[in-house]
Amino acid sequence: MSVQKRDVKVITTHQLQNMKERGEKISMLTAYDFSMASILDAAGIDVLLVGDSASNVMAGHETTLPITLDQMIYHAQSVVRGVKRAFVVVDMPFGSYQGNSSEALRSAIRIMKESGAHGVKLEGGAEIKESITRILSAGVPVMGHLGLTPQSIYKFGTYTVRAKEEAEAQKLLEDAQLLQDLGCFAIVLEKIPSALAKRVAEQLQIPIIGIGAGPHVDGQVLVVHDMLGITKEFKPRFLRRYADLHSIMTDAVQNFVQDVKNRDFPTEQEAY
Ligand code: KIV
Repeated sequence: MSVQKRDVKVITTHQLQNMKERGEKISMLTAYDFSMASILDAAGIDVLLVGDSASNVMAGHETTLPITLDQMIYHAQSVVRGVKRAFVVVDMPFGSYQGNSSEALRSAIRIMKESGAHGVKLEGGAEIKESITRILSAGVPVMGHLGLTPQSIYKFGTYTVRAKEEAEAQKLLEDAQLLQDLGCFAIVLEKIPSALAKRVAEQLQIPIIGIGAGPHVDGQVLVVHDMLGITKEFKPRFLRRYADLHSIMTDAVQNFVQDVKNRDFPTEQEAY
């Protein structure tokens, strides 16, 4: 850790747990590169998620499935270099942890060693129990992810709200309890009914972070490109846009193009 980093009180899993216990909500956003991570960290974000949503917003894929472990590590390295205070969690990409706990451990260790991140996130409950146990046994903090798990999109068939039926809600409650019992430090709940998310947050001692899971959880996460209004077409009900960067960036680029064409840029004052 650099001297500069030591000047700042860094966020740890222990602090996130304390935040839940004293009722302070946890803020979390995705980040995939150095510049954005520096801005978000300096603005006071608690947790940065190097999400596999990079597959969508950075690489332009339709789903999160194509992104590779090497690509996730590249994004994570860039984010870690921009962070002084936030806790950095990295999504383990599709195919790097399901079905083989030895491979899961190898993938998690690569992420931690090569990026300098502080923890990993995995999608799923009982079906990935062995992978989670193995990763935790190496001392790597694990964040769970239940509800709408985008790596399983071809099983679900749609991105609609999950766990509306009693059987799926019951399975989610059991999975959440299992993740806590295994030793996960937090869980993301994506796109589930608010009342169910509230039950999970009340039942569990670890922090529950929601995206499309209502207000009664311990923290909120959004994809940064969505909340800044860089993406335009994605408009789920749960998304609040805090800026319209798409318009601001479009205007700026149009002005630049015009200035270049009109020979208004650069002026003599902007030259050497
Ligand atoms: O990859 C991602 O951005 C995520 C969030 C939606 C929680 O997993």
